[in-house]
Amino acid sequence: MSHKITLSTRDNQQFEFSCENQQNVQDAAEAASLYPPFGCKSGACGACLGSCEKGDYQLDSYSQEVLSVEAAANGGILLCRTLPKTDLQITLPYDADSIQQTLNAPRDAEIISIDKIAERTLKVVLQLQDDPETGLAFEFEPGQFVELEIPGLDLMRAYSLANTANWEGRLEFLIRLQPNGKFSEFLQKTPIGQHILVHAPSGAFVINKQSSNPRCFIAGGTGLSPFLSILKRMAEWAEDHPTHLFLGVNNEAEILCQEELTALQQSLPQLTVEICVWKPEDNWQGFIGTPVDAFKSYLEKNGVENDVYLCGPPILVEASTTVALENGINKEHIYSERFVAA
Ligand code: FES
Repeated sequence: MSHKITLSTRDNQQFEFSCENQQNVQDAAEAASLYPPFGCKSGACGACLGSCEKGDYQLDSYSQEVLSVEAAANGGILLCRTLPKTDLQITLPYDADSIQQTLNAPRDAEIISIDKIAERTLKVVLQLQDDPETGLAFEFEPGQFVELEIPGLDLMRAYSLANTANWEGRLEFLIRLQPNGKFSEFLQKTPIGQHILVHAPSGAFVINKQSSNPRCFIAGGTGLSPFLSILKRMAEWAEDHPTHLFLGVNNEAEILCQEELTALQQSLPQLTVEICVWKPEDNWQGFIGTPVDAFKSYLEKNGVENDVYLCGPPILVEASTTVALENGINKEHIYSERFVAA
């Protein structure tokens, strides 16, 4: 038996396809040549979040880090874990152009540098190999991520790009070293020149260009990556939009990309940057506390006409979302990307 699935995007576009019993909605969409943003396809990353407005379904196992019990009770779903029992109407928190109609094959790339830029943080730069169709170019929207796969090791992880699309095939990533993380271990013993597969860009954590509201960017550690990409694109296009970036770290040794942020502020005079250190040394002159605390006091002083973009661990995304909602920001103006340690 099959069920009719209707996906409605933020810009009111609709996509319909059928889904068999015991088939998940993500797989059914892909069978119909629709590729909503996805990552792990195992309920662990949250890239395929949506909300079911009508219909009955069962959720296969998933991590509560990416979909809380409360969110699931209010209709929150992960497309890759949703098994319909009836026809479903699902809303998606992004525009129709985030749903791809084809999926490009992974590209071969070479690691050309790995640098430690802060405590437990690496900057990894890849050089794509020439492709017969596209050459070196790699198209993506600032804010998107790619999955990196180590051939032969059955190891795949999603990371946000920290630079912008370019013709030279250069891809930059900020990667947090996780204790006992398989990808972290791989990077620490990897020689420059190692080849790696780069899957097609995905993700809907991109700027809502229809809104003229000032933007608040809230990043936890390497959650800065998509914001760096977005800010670099704004600088390239001289799009000086009022933007306040909150960057949260545990201590001064974890502060990352300060020089890049200072350079971006010179290109973008309406960009302000607030580095929030949770447990600083005695001589720290900046904000003491979490970016959530700093965001709260910002809203109290500056009002709530803001678009809020959140990227970091689930605990930061959830706490910031609560503060935004409690201060009267409409949920349509809150965009989030959460990453889980792996
Ligand atoms: S793709 Fe569905 S949770 Fe990762």
